[in-house]
Amino acid sequence: MKAYMYDNLPGDQRLPHDSGRAVDTDELAKLGVLYYHFPDIDGVNKLAADRGYKNRDEIVVSPEKMGDVYEDKVKMFFNEHLHEDEEIRYIRGGQGYFDVRSKDDEWVRVRLEKDDLLILPAGIYHRFTTDESNYVHAMRLFQDEPKWTPLNRCPDLDTNAQRQEYVGQYLA
Ligand code: LAC
Ligand code: NI
Repeated sequence: MKAYMYDNLPGDQRLPHDSGRAVDTDELAKLGVLYYHFPDIDGVNKLAADRGYKNRDEIVVSPEKMGDVYEDKVKMFFNEHLHEDEEIRYIRGGQGYFDVRSKDDEWVRVRLEKDDLLILPAGIYHRFTTDESNYVHAMRLFQDEPKWTPLNRCPDLDTNAQRQEYVGQYLA
């Protein structure tokens, strides 16, 4: 895992976009973003049990696996959005970038690789992309049914209950 401020320069979303300003795990935790490294699935099983997560699936995001829809999917994942539930991702192979909004509404880029697990709190604005290798294999953990609704950022979302709770807890 490596986290840093995104450089906001033009160029493919899959490039590193590393501004050179590092962000540590304490700063991530202040945004409610929790990072773990689990070389062993036991750690993931325990975390899932502790948080009441009953379901999981695995997804491979790559042109080989997805074919023609790959580029569209990658662009879709990169639309800024939030969820009304936590998002937990455990990387099994390859690499990916989660971008999360800082207190100042700047992008913090979190580079994840094998055995990294990231928890994004409900209501945080974020986006995801593969890197230049165009391959990531991730486990998605779900509390109940594997359903996942992205709500794209827009002014109307300011009144969303989960958004308001997130803002109150972490950004106030
Ligand atoms: C998701 C990632 C793209 O919602 O944030 O699956
Ligand atoms: Ni998401």
